[in-house]
Amino acid sequence: MSGIREVPEGLVAWERISAHSHIRGLGLEGLKAKFIDDGMVGQTEAREAAGIVTRLIREGKFAGRAILMAGPPGTGKTAIAVAIAKELGKDVPFVPIAASEVYSAEMKKTEFLTQALRKSIGVRIHEVRKIYEGIVKELSIQKEPHPYNPYMQVPVGAIMKLATKDESKKLTMDQSFAMQIVQQGIETGDIVQIDADGGRITKLGKSKQAIEEKKVDLTAIEVLDIPPGPVMKEKEFVYTLTLHQLDVMNSRSGGSIFSLLFSSGGGREIDAEVRKEVDNAVRDMVQSKKAEIIPGVAFIDECSMLDVESFAFLNRALEQDLCPIIIFATNRGITTIRGTDIKSPHGMPLDLLDRLLIINTRPYNAEEIRKILEIRAKAEKIEIEEEALNLLTKIGVETSLRHAVQLMAPAKIIAENENLKVITKTHVERVNFLFADIKRSVSYLHEYEKQFLV
Ligand SMILES: Nc1ncnc2c1ncn2[C@@H]1O[C@H](COP(=O)(O)OP(=O)(O)OP(=O)(O)O)[C@@H](O)[C@H]1O
Ligand SMILES: [Mg+2]
Repeated sequence: MSGIREVPEGLVAWERISAHSHIRGLGLEGLKAKFIDDGMVGQTEAREAAGIVTRLIREGKFAGRAILMAGPPGTGKTAIAVAIAKELGKDVPFVPIAASEVYSAEMKKTEFLTQALRKSIGVRIHEVRKIYEGIVKELSIQKEPHPYNPYMQVPVGAIMKLATKDESKKLTMDQSFAMQIVQQGIETGDIVQIDADGGRITKLGKSKQAIEEKKVDLTAIEVLDIPPGPVMKEKEFVYTLTLHQLDVMNSRSGGSIFSLLFSSGGGREIDAEVRKEVDNAVRDMVQSKKAEIIPGVAFIDECSMLDVESFAFLNRALEQDLCPIIIFATNRGITTIRGTDIKSPHGMPLDLLDRLLIINTRPYNAEEIRKILEIRAKAEKIEIEEEALNLLTKIGVETSLRHAVQLMAPAKIIAENENLKVITKTHVERVNFLFADIKRSVSYLHEYEKQFLV
C-alpha cells in the first residue's frame, strides 16, 4: 500500500505537465548543473539553486518556507518546478496549481488553498498488523439458502486450516471472508494472506506441490514456496497518505483507505473540526513514532493572479507548523496586487516578498533554444530537417521559445498531410505564416484599429 500519490486532477493539470514530459530531473552532478542532462538545457544558475532547495526539502529543513521563480515567459520556470518534483521522488507530494484556480465557483478561496497545502503534506504511517499467512490445507465453506431466493446458496462462513512449514492452525471465518474466498476461487493448495483487522483475504499464489498434483496452467499463476515460521505474524505496513486524504477519510463516516481509492472524493469543503482532529491524531502518531511527516511542495504557478486575501492567507499559513514548501512562479515585474491599487514587485505584498528566496530565470540564447527544440521534437516523436530546425531556432530567438516549441505540432500536421515523415523548412515557413506570435498579433490589431480611427 506504499506510494499513494496525488493524481493531478482533470485535463488542465495534465496539459500543464505534458509540455514538460521531456524533463526527468534537474540534470545536476552533485550541486553543479550539466549543460544538458535529464532533458534540461542551460539555465544553470536557476537549476543549481533549485538543486540546493531540493536538498533542503529532502532533509525536511525547509518546511514553511517559500520560493519565488521569477523570469520572462517561456524561460523554464514551470519546467524547473517539474524537475524539482521529479528529483524529490515518488513519496514526496508535489501539488501544482495555477493561481487562477483559486477563483473557482465551488469553493471559497481559502478552502481551495487549504486543500492544496494539505495535499502537499505527506504522512508516512507505519502500522503493525496481525497477518495469517500460509498454505490452505483444508477448506470448507458453509452455505445456506438465500433469504429471498431459496434455490440459491450463499456462503455464510468458512473453516480453513492454514499451515506453514512449521505449524498449522484452524481458523473460523465469517460471511465476509467466505464471500471473498468464493469470489477469488481460493482452494486447497493456494497460498493466502489474511489481514484479520482489515477484514481481507488475498490469494498470493499456489504452492509448488499443488501445481504438480493438479497440473494447472502456469501462465496465470504465481508459484510460491510454503512460508516458514508461525501462521500468525505481525507485519509492518508502511503507506503514505496526505493530510488532505486523511481529512477526506475522516469527514466520511466509516471512511477507510478503500473508500478513498474507490470514490471521486474531490470538490467538497471540509469542516475545520475534522482538520483539527486529523492534526491532533497525526501529532499523536508522530510522537509515538508511528508516523513521520513528509513536507512536500505546493507549486503555485502564475502567482500574480492571486489577490491580497489569498496572499495574506498563505503568509499566515507559512507560520504554522504543518505547512509544506510553497514555490511561487511569475513572469510579472512591477504590477498591482490584485484586490488593491498598490503596485508592488511581482504583484505580491512586501511582507510576503520578504520571506521568499527568489530564483531568477533568464531568456535563452540561440544554442540553448536549438537544443531544447531538438529535445522537444524527440519527446513528441517529430522528425525535423536541419534547415527547418535552424529556422525554428531563429523564430525562437526573435519571438519566444514557447512560440517556437508550439509551432512544431502544426508543422507536423502539414508534413503528414503531404505524406512526409520529416518536417522541412517550407513546413515551418508555412506555420510561421499561419500562426502569429504575440508581437505580430498585437501589431496587426494595432494597424486595424488605426484604420478605424482615421
Ligand atoms: N532549460 C530548459 N530545458 C529544457 N526544456 C525547457 C527549458 N526551459 C524551458 N523548457 C521547455 O520550454 C517550454 C516553455 O517553458 P516553461 O513553460 O517552463 O516556461 P515558463 O517560464 O514557465 O513560462 P511562463 O512564464 O509563460 O509560465 C516548456 O515546454 C518547457 O518544458
Ligand atoms: Mg510557467
